[in-house]
Amino acid sequence: MPKKIKQQYKTLKGFKDVLPGQQKYWDFLYEKTRQASVDYGFRKLDLPILEDARIYIKGTGKNTDIIEKELYAFEDKGGNNVALRPEFTPGVLRAYLEHGMINQPQPVKLFSWGPIFRHDNPQAGRLRQFNQFNFEIIGSDLPETDSQLIVMIASLYKSFGLDVVIEINTIGCQECRHEYVKELNKFLRKNKSKMCDVCQDRMQKNSLRVLDCKDKSCIEVTENAPQIIDYVCVECKDHFVKVLENLDEVDVIYSLNPRLVRGLDYYTRTTFEVFLNNESYPELIKIENQDSGVKKDKNKEDNSDDKKIALGGGGRYDNLMEILGGRQTPAIGMAVGVERVISALKFVRIEVPDPNQADVFIAQLGDEAKKKSIKMFEDMRRENIRVREAFSKSGLKPQLEIANRLGVKYTLILGQKEIIDGTIILRDMVSGIQEIVPFDKGILELKKRLANGNGIKIYTDNKPNQESVEKLETTLPIQNNQDQLFSESEPESETFELDDDLENFD
Ligand code: HAM
Repeated sequence: MPKKIKQQYKTLKGFKDVLPGQQKYWDFLYEKTRQASVDYGFRKLDLPILEDARIYIKGTGKNTDIIEKELYAFEDKGGNNVALRPEFTPGVLRAYLEHGMINQPQPVKLFSWGPIFRHDNPQAGRLRQFNQFNFEIIGSDLPETDSQLIVMIASLYKSFGLDVVIEINTIGCQECRHEYVKELNKFLRKNKSKMCDVCQDRMQKNSLRVLDCKDKSCIEVTENAPQIIDYVCVECKDHFVKVLENLDEVDVIYSLNPRLVRGLDYYTRTTFEVFLNNESYPELIKIENQDSGVKKDKNKEDNSDDKKIALGGGGRYDNLMEILGGRQTPAIGMAVGVERVISALKFVRIEVPDPNQADVFIAQLGDEAKKKSIKMFEDMRRENIRVREAFSKSGLKPQLEIANRLGVKYTLILGQKEIIDGTIILRDMVSGIQEIVPFDKGILELKKRLANGNGIKIYTDNKPNQESVEKLETTLPIQNNQDQLFSESEPESETFELDDDLENFD
């Protein structure tokens, strides 16, 4: 017996391979997002993954969890302090400044897509390397800009087939927030002993973050906290009202959440976050909770908040450009977590098209048939027929097994007898009916059938090759599941589990 090789190396904790069977989700999301970016006038910007760490420390903010706990920062061989990007936004502004985009017509709309690194505690829904797609609109302070970005996001999730809830809030500008934070601090100090340890610490550095703590005792405390909407200045309130009015105009459903402060330092005025609409999927959520055996944290509220699935978030950041050394330039943006959206697609059982799904398989028996099949494969590919082969196999049975697993509609079979007769066998993989067609009409016939979506028999005068037919009568069960083909090396471990993918989201 061959010695079993023990695998030594594995992916790092919080890092994931994206296997071939999962790529269809990535293709689907990328294509939809790219199209939306074009429709709304965004231009693609690719950024380096490694940047000067200072843009994040200054931009994202040194009191945020991202910088305090999660930044992958190190000194490179030249002694520079560099960091793997923990988000796109500061890098986008760095590029805007570096390439003089201020001289372009404003606002400048930029779309990016790629990996993000946060040395987070790996757990369900939190990876150390994950991907975001990111939109920024730089150079407009108009409420219409906020609204249009949110409208775009709403329609994007719709195009994914997901029913989402958009939560929205305003956190005012630097001036009016100052007054609010003073009042909030007074309130929190009075209730300090009732709050969790993390929030007792947070209170000193960034008391706003206490508002979105998921700890039960903190939620109870902050229920009676002063609300920011009562403190924002007339301009900020007016801005917010206009954003909401515009959303009403286009029937985008939103929900006001006065606790939505977001975990990054740079936000001003509008903040928003997108969640899967649990109400639309109550049965699935119940099943997933039962099946996943999610362990509940006793300190956390046993309500829907705990199961909220943050699929994306963003907001306005009118002062970040100045912080990064530019002149004051208003801007707004948002980012979506790709892995989380994919988890949600699986969670709600959304079927996405598979660009790898083939329609036809070509099976061959014998050297001459193999030679002709190679040419026929090329001819079909040129005719845009999605065809697969297994030239490395010679027996018919293993080839048909592969065809079956690939879920093709038709298999063409070329053996020695067919070569002599100048014919080819065309097998309908669903009905099992097979017929013989002249070899040089094979592709034409396939195209007709693929266009009609049926297997109408046209060549009735050709006698079937009895030998081949008998062999084929040892029929194989029909399986239209391509993923099973890879089941050994690529288990469908991604069958969605709430426990794995969606609990404890940001
Ligand atoms: P963020 O809320 O930190 O915002 O991240 C956006 C999204 O990335 C989250 O809603 C979530 O879907 C996903 N995400 C965050 N952390 C993880 C993780 N550890 N594992 C998997 N997915 C995760 C930003 O990054 C801002 N830059 C958004 C923005 C752009 N604001 C203005 N412009």
